[in-house]
Amino acid sequence: MPPGHWLWGHLTERTNNPLGLYLNARQQLGDVVRYRMGHIFVEQLTHPTHVKHVLADNCARYSKGTVFDKTRPLVGNGLLTSEGSFWKRQRRLAQPAFHKERIASLSGMMTDTLTETLQGWEAAASAGQPLPMVQELMRLTLTVAVRALFSAEVREHAHTMGEAFTRALAITNERIISPLPYLPALYRLPTPKNRAFLRDVATLDSIVLDIIRQRRTADETNDLLGMLMASRDADTGESMDDTQLRDEVMTLVLAGHETTAAGLAWTFHLLDQNPEVAATLKEEVDTVLGGRTPTVEDLPRLRYAACVFEEAMRLYPPIWAIPRVPLEDDVVDGYLIPKGDIVILVPYVTHRHPEFWPEPERFEPTRFLPENSQERPRWAYLPFGGGQRQCVGNAFSMMEAQFTLAMVAQRFTLRGVPGVPVVPEPLVTLRPRGPMPMVPVWHPRAPQVRSA
Ligand code: HEM
Repeated sequence: MPPGHWLWGHLTERTNNPLGLYLNARQQLGDVVRYRMGHIFVEQLTHPTHVKHVLADNCARYSKGTVFDKTRPLVGNGLLTSEGSFWKRQRRLAQPAFHKERIASLSGMMTDTLTETLQGWEAAASAGQPLPMVQELMRLTLTVAVRALFSAEVREHAHTMGEAFTRALAITNERIISPLPYLPALYRLPTPKNRAFLRDVATLDSIVLDIIRQRRTADETNDLLGMLMASRDADTGESMDDTQLRDEVMTLVLAGHETTAAGLAWTFHLLDQNPEVAATLKEEVDTVLGGRTPTVEDLPRLRYAACVFEEAMRLYPPIWAIPRVPLEDDVVDGYLIPKGDIVILVPYVTHRHPEFWPEPERFEPTRFLPENSQERPRWAYLPFGGGQRQCVGNAFSMMEAQFTLAMVAQRFTLRGVPGVPVVPEPLVTLRPRGPMPMVPVWHPRAPQVRSA
């Protein structure tokens, strides 16, 4: 690995090719690597034992730091950004909404949304036209997130909310990438972009707060918002106030949709590159479903579909890096991690660690079959993070992914467009760069499900 620049260290490599930098550093220097990035020192830890040390065993010594601060103007102080006792209380209140049986009650909404989305692809399939797959999947997962939260009011508001959220998220992502620090005053300057952002946030606020207020006087509704509103702290009996509910709702929309869309986009790309895997998936789907729409009871038997998504997230984890800030000096594997440095865990690299993943670059979903997973340490695979800050929506997104893979496989093969390369873009999430055009090609037996 080349030495860093005398002034800015490895900052240029970090900006231009972070995946290459982190992967090469592990290969050449080992599991603990210290870089200088300008005036900041960064420790990269990639061994599962070290990952467990930071996320689980010694998590009290680490904070999430300021990485997600730039999302605050959009999502406020929700589960993603909060810390300490406030986070703990919010997490306790939100957790019941994500229990398996609660999530299961959202399955019909998910398959209905998928049916609508896939009907929207039929014209492109008949004309042999490509669709911008990244945008299609973002729209699908955003619709699912909004419908999961507000089943009752969704018809009226889904479109406005989706549009406002997408625009505000694009500006949030620009702010996150920008080297400027988090300065809330900067975002209040009356530039056209800031004004548009504030207008969209005001629209979202007024819709969400109106819904919450109406719900206060209505019967309980069995969607995620209803569950969040009904949740009571076991010790104090307290529930969330309107602002906390608004922040959690916006956080769930943010955390839940772009990640799942990125994971699905990579899955469809990998299926296109590996037709034998696509054929095995289709065989499973046909055997289990025989052309009908899947239900939650089918999910345990759509095991290969789950493995396909898990393997895609191994190669392209939507959250490809997880930073932490040590609150005091720590020692990992004999190395001092000084307070003030930044620790970076890199699922993209840990998921390719040759000690745990033979032929790491090969797309092989059967790695995730139970009989092939027993020997592997739990912390060699962390697409959903781990420890107390583990993703609250993992069961939700696994279910959404299994349904999506099964229902697409019933109808179409998605084919990439020759000459259009698919390149990873490691921003907050790891997405394919650009729209990733793909043509939906009908399966010969697809008419069976067309009218489902
Ligand atoms: C494939 C899809 C998803 C991936 C890869 C993913 C990944 C992650 C990761 C790695 C974390 C931990 C971040 C850290 O420790 O710094 C996280 C946290 C979180 N995720 Fe997800 N996520 C996904 C889907 C979802 C969905 C569907 C929801 C909600 C409906 C959601 C809500 C959250 C929340 C609220 C947190 C913060 C939890 C806390 O700190 O208490 N995620 N996610």
